[in-house]
Amino acid sequence: MLEVLKGMSDKIDITAKKMETIFDISAEIFKQYGFERIYTPLVEATELFKRGVGETTDVVGKEMYDFKDKGGRDISLRPEGTAGVVRAYLNAGKHKANPNYKCFYMGPMYRYEAPQKGRYREFIQIGVESFGNKSPLHDAEIIQMAFDVLNTLKISDLTLEINDIGTSEDRNNYKKELIEYLEKHFDELSEDSKKRLHQNPLRVLDSKDKKDIEIVKNAPKLSKYINEEEKIYFKNVQKYLDLLGIKYVVNDNLVRGLDYYSSMVFEIKSSKLGAQSTVCGGGRYDKLLEILGGVAIPAMGFSIGADRLLLLLDDEIIEEVDNQHKVYIVYSDKTEQYMLEIARELRDALCKVEYEYNPKSFGNQLKKADKLGYKEVVILGEDELKENVITIKNLEKSTQETKTLNEYLGEIYDKNA
Ligand code: HAM
Repeated sequence: MLEVLKGMSDKIDITAKKMETIFDISAEIFKQYGFERIYTPLVEATELFKRGVGETTDVVGKEMYDFKDKGGRDISLRPEGTAGVVRAYLNAGKHKANPNYKCFYMGPMYRYEAPQKGRYREFIQIGVESFGNKSPLHDAEIIQMAFDVLNTLKISDLTLEINDIGTSEDRNNYKKELIEYLEKHFDELSEDSKKRLHQNPLRVLDSKDKKDIEIVKNAPKLSKYINEEEKIYFKNVQKYLDLLGIKYVVNDNLVRGLDYYSSMVFEIKSSKLGAQSTVCGGGRYDKLLEILGGVAIPAMGFSIGADRLLLLLDDEIIEEVDNQHKVYIVYSDKTEQYMLEIARELRDALCKVEYEYNPKSFGNQLKKADKLGYKEVVILGEDELKENVITIKNLEKSTQETKTLNEYLGEIYDKNA
């Protein structure tokens, strides 16, 4: 039998339900904050990611699913969502009409990484991007929105880490001193960090290698190089996080893995995930629209790794958020037409309704209802048809009651009100 590709997975049964719950809750919350949905292609010109995310990043330099299409074009499966959304924003001319635009997306991303728990080659991101807004209150509100999603999903033991990585000028000045310092420790650095030292030295700061961590402890600090205006901005972000009651830690070494970031960046980490602990990462990317479209529009966003949330989500969450009334109809050949009328009425009242397509005995149908997980059954025998009523059987309590359809619908409405 053919297997799913390495690092990829099917989401089926309870896992699919959990993913759907994550999608539904996120979309609902994003809309509360004025974000609207955007859909962009899974495949883009490779150039977009090279210019947008950065050629020296691991994501673009090492992990892209890039290939030529039949027309010889260099294209890639998107490794992340931001670059494509920025392209779509510019293509739609949003920056000309009204640069303030807030959108969200959810869908698969592709990175050719070594798979492990929480790290896959196809993974689902739930992302938001906000254009044309730059203010500490805005940034704190975006973080609040991420926590709204995680808290509603009852994901606990989370830590918010924030940092300010300043402007590219700040970082360039800092890089000189950092490289000088790291060169003194070159022989002790991990192989990855040796490679990064000249290409992308800031990434050495968030290396997970034990020896690198020790070396980084005494490294010069980026915060020393951040300009005054940025420093005030970052302090104000913290002020609003305090006002919103959101706890955080300032992590000097948080630099993020994609080149487009500037100013405020953040990650939300779970203590229950092991090595791949970041469930949400984001920050400001105030220069990306200039790089891709020549327009000076500030922007910010984040993405939540939905596959990592799956590892943290309790099964109960599905039942808690699912208030749809579910009913299985038991009937006979003689009551088929009556059953179809009742099924129509119940579905119009937003109930989930199923029935047997080749009905055998009532006993047989009741067993099927039980197997499918229904707790409530509507029985439509010849007596019910004659009296124009329905019989409701509760399979858990083994109780049974006969009433009119309208009485039953009234009870369902009351329950959901
Ligand atoms: P990122 O940090 O590369 O940022 O990814 C965001 C989140 O996606 C991570 O925190 C993680 O939860 C999840 N993720 C990343 N790679 C994998 C993987 N291989 N397997 C499973 N989950 C993964 C971005 O992608 C930015 N576009 C976020 C952003 C949006 N920044 C501004 N706007």
